[in-house]
Amino acid sequence: MYLYCPSTVKWYEAGMNPLTTAPPACVGLRIGDLAPDFEARSTVGPVRLSSFRGRWLVLFSHPADFTPVCTTEFVALAHEMATFEARNCALMAMSVDSLFSHFAWVRMIRDRFGVEVRFPIVEDPTLVIGRAYGMVSACDNDSAAVRTTFVIDPAGVIRAMTCYPANLGRSIPEILRILAGLQVVDAHGALAPANWQPADPLLEAPAHDLDEVFAASDATGWFLRDMGGQN
Ligand code: BEZ
Repeated sequence: MYLYCPSTVKWYEAGMNPLTTAPPACVGLRIGDLAPDFEARSTVGPVRLSSFRGRWLVLFSHPADFTPVCTTEFVALAHEMATFEARNCALMAMSVDSLFSHFAWVRMIRDRFGVEVRFPIVEDPTLVIGRAYGMVSACDNDSAAVRTTFVIDPAGVIRAMTCYPANLGRSIPEILRILAGLQVVDAHGALAPANWQPADPLLEAPAHDLDEVFAASDATGWFLRDMGGQN
């Protein structure tokens, strides 16, 4: 188990002294972890991560305001905000830029691209959030967050993560597919196969009983079981 020490802004193994111990080279969050809570200033006022409980949340970092790829991502996300909302999912962006930089950037986006970015963009000038989420290095002073995306469920648990480099923009349809896939497998206790898209057939969980394995009509029938289309 690791503990986060806000005063040194680093992670430590439980029982270690933050003042005398070097942090591990790499400590990251994993699928199934509770998303670390934080409170911060954002473009829509103060936000607290835990206040999003009861809804899905896509929390994502971007390297910097006023950069080309990030601008295309924000325009695309703002256009799809209603699609996320229809799936009971909020969006929250985060970068090390100041709140006033975020304001100037969303104003520019509205004037140039005709779309209002209404989801919160959090400022993280001290890198505390970025480090807690592994969006910036836990061990050095490079402030440029990579394009990390966390899909967090209504219980506050991290259910999926993606990490892209600064020079490759994210696929917004893929983020929506991840969200839709998690929602549908939760609802049906099922599995989503490769390249699954909403309304495509799901797979049933494999048998866990040897009698079922031997009773299956063919060699794959006990583990590769089509469940039909579900939304
Ligand atoms: C971009 O969003 O275009 C970008 C951000 C940081 C480094 C390089 C590109």
